[in-house]
Amino acid sequence: MKNYTTLKDIPNISELIKEAILLKMNPFEYSKLGQHKTVVMLFFNSSLRTRLSTEKAAKNLGMDVMILNVNDAWNLEFEDGTVMNVDKSEHIKEAAQVISQYADMIAVRAFPSLQDKAKDESEYILNSFKKYATVPIVNMESATAHPLQALADAITISELTEKKTPKVVLSWAPHPKALPQAVANSFIEMMQHLDVDFCITHPEGYELNTEITQNTPINYNQEAALQDADFVYVKNWSSYNDYGKILNQDAKWMMTKEKLGKAKFMHCLPVRRNVVVEDAVLDGNQSVVIQQANNRTFAAQVVLKQLLENL
Ligand code: CP
Repeated sequence: MKNYTTLKDIPNISELIKEAILLKMNPFEYSKLGQHKTVVMLFFNSSLRTRLSTEKAAKNLGMDVMILNVNDAWNLEFEDGTVMNVDKSEHIKEAAQVISQYADMIAVRAFPSLQDKAKDESEYILNSFKKYATVPIVNMESATAHPLQALADAITISELTEKKTPKVVLSWAPHPKALPQAVANSFIEMMQHLDVDFCITHPEGYELNTEITQNTPINYNQEAALQDADFVYVKNWSSYNDYGKILNQDAKWMMTKEKLGKAKFMHCLPVRRNVVVEDAVLDGNQSVVIQQANNRTFAAQVVLKQLLENL
């Protein structure tokens, strides 16, 4: 693996999941692999899990970690040929090359604006680092994708499934803030690669990018979609077609213990209790959200390991 910016960078997903599960059993087996190697983690947005799990993963491999909250640094210009006489102090061309002097790989978190669809979909922040940095780039959630989360989700399903082909449902949930589509996009792409019976349920108007959903079944009837599910992944996203808008906050779509049935409950976290999902689900024994969060370490670790092996 040369970079990890999308799931397409993974040569063999099922092999990577197996390798992550082996690393989880023996997390310090490769503790010398990353000796004298540094990952610089750049955060344009907040994080709890991604920041700590990626740092832990790097340290398990013996790497050094440097973290920069980008808002504390110079305001970056991403456009080519601009006259930088307003508020931007440093161009990405220099910044990415300079950070590459201090890093053996660069991990970036940069959310979408949810205002300008074309600009968000260009992934200009992540792709500018890919273009100008001279070291591998890791996506820690970009405008359209969260591949580290999707890998942790796949590891969790692989660990817990009792069936060869479990039924997995991605169920939209209400939320008071307009949220990105990135987690849902990557989860869908991951499920399309696994041996699962997968469908998506959301209210009309919340259709995601059809280039991502492709032939995945979409059911506007949540109750019907959830029938006999083994795993229910709950996530809010704002409208893709009416870009970045909240179309409704219909509380009927909140996940409840009754609707969950016998399925395991999944969510990437953070989650708003009693808006996205009721307490009884999160506090019950069908919730696997903590295991998912734990698996973020081993998803990051297997990715960093493969990048280190290709340096
Ligand atoms: N799930 C996830 O990416 O969590 P953070 O935003 O806290 O990193």
